[in-house]
Amino acid sequence: MILAAGRGTRMRSRTPKVLHELCGIPMVLWPVRAALAAGAGQVVVVDSPERALAGVLPEGVRLAVQTDSNGTGGAVVAGLAALDADDADAPVVVLSGDVPLVSAETIAELVHAHEVSGADATMASTVLDDPSGYGRVVRDADGVVKSVVETKTEGDATPEQLEIREVNTGIYVFSAHALRETLPRLSADNAQGELYLPQALEEIRADGGTVAAHAVADERLVLGVNDRAALARVRALAQEAIHARHMAAGVTVVDPCTTVIDVDVEIGQDTTIEPFTTIRGATRIGEGCVVRHSYIIDSVLEDGVTIGPFAYLRPGSVLREGSKAGTFVEIKNSDIGAGAKIPHLSYIGDADVGAHANLGASTITANYDGQHKHRTTIGQRVRSSVHVSFVAPVTVGDEAYTGAGSTIDQDVPPGALGIARPRQTNIEGYAQRRARAIAREEES
Ligand code: UD1
Ligand code: MG
Repeated sequence: MILAAGRGTRMRSRTPKVLHELCGIPMVLWPVRAALAAGAGQVVVVDSPERALAGVLPEGVRLAVQTDSNGTGGAVVAGLAALDADDADAPVVVLSGDVPLVSAETIAELVHAHEVSGADATMASTVLDDPSGYGRVVRDADGVVKSVVETKTEGDATPEQLEIREVNTGIYVFSAHALRETLPRLSADNAQGELYLPQALEEIRADGGTVAAHAVADERLVLGVNDRAALARVRALAQEAIHARHMAAGVTVVDPCTTVIDVDVEIGQDTTIEPFTTIRGATRIGEGCVVRHSYIIDSVLEDGVTIGPFAYLRPGSVLREGSKAGTFVEIKNSDIGAGAKIPHLSYIGDADVGAHANLGASTITANYDGQHKHRTTIGQRVRSSVHVSFVAPVTVGDEAYTGAGSTIDQDVPPGALGIARPRQTNIEGYAQRRARAIAREEES
């Protein structure tokens, strides 16, 4: 179960907190994916009544609605109601939608620890150098977990409790039975007037049950995001892990600090990503490519493609094997054939470019007539020359040429030269006549 309702007031945003983007996907999808990867039998996400998360959850993940925003305890009540009753004895893992970097391994370890100890509830805790804002784990003289004290408002915790550096990560495993017994007893008698889920731990103990804490050694996996500064820290960690995964798989990331790669991007071996590059969405890059100082969104680069510096590939760009998009080239929703070259200063939108075509500097597709988008079809081995506009819909046949400076708004047959520009006129003796005219003006 993933608790993900509410706006998260400290984000100061019109967007619900867990829908803020983290390396290309909404934050909430990180724990959802971890739960699925850990083998969760059922995954339920608790949302607010607006159901803002409905559109982003993967198939098979259920959405439960928490009608009142009455705290993490209330969220679990809503989530529990949405779980299938025939799984009534399975342990219930509770994750927080704002603790995105939790890994499937961490969840599996927590469940394992819970099962081995036979506790009724196991909370994942971690030790932080700066625990401010987190609930602190209070243990009794024997080291047994007693409670969690919140620290959001002055007076929540005593000065001694504020010294505690072991924090509640917002991740737990409960026996379903213990949860059902204790949730109805949570009270909103606290600084925020909310039902605090950690209070269930105290109630379980009061019933004679056992509560354990499982320490997560790598605190980076369980950092919570309550504001945008924390989101930036978590993003840096997520990005570092994404880079590490690609580098381990044989990709050169020349300067990780200036390279943004979204979580779902795939990159083949021996591809080099040069500094100041951003690769977003579901982009797939093949082997042996070179990407220089470019911005790529939802595109496909087959093996041996070279792009940039300063290329901008917008969604739906497919660059076939060995093709090239050079400096200040923008491509959108286009298929660029194998070995084709678009080296300088071009906009290619809604176009199919044949294999080994060469579109000279400043070749532009005029794909939009103000109301509709149209396609441009450019055949194999076409040579467009420089400063050419293709006014779509238009087709240029295989091996055709177009003349420099042409505005091509009619089809060009295969092998033909399409030329569409006024003929040049030279005015002889112009400079001399002009100089004389100026001299006369100055005399008078
Ligand atoms: C919570 C814990 C705190 C812990 C911290 C770890 C409580 C009372 N406190 O505090 O001990 O150290 O997480 O990050 O649980 N949510 C709902 N419905 C609600 C309220 C919250 O679904 O009514 C969801 C939020 O979307 C969020 C998660 O629960 O994803 C945690 O809520 P949040 O308000 O961030 O709690 P913290 O103050 O971080
Ligand atoms: Mg939080």
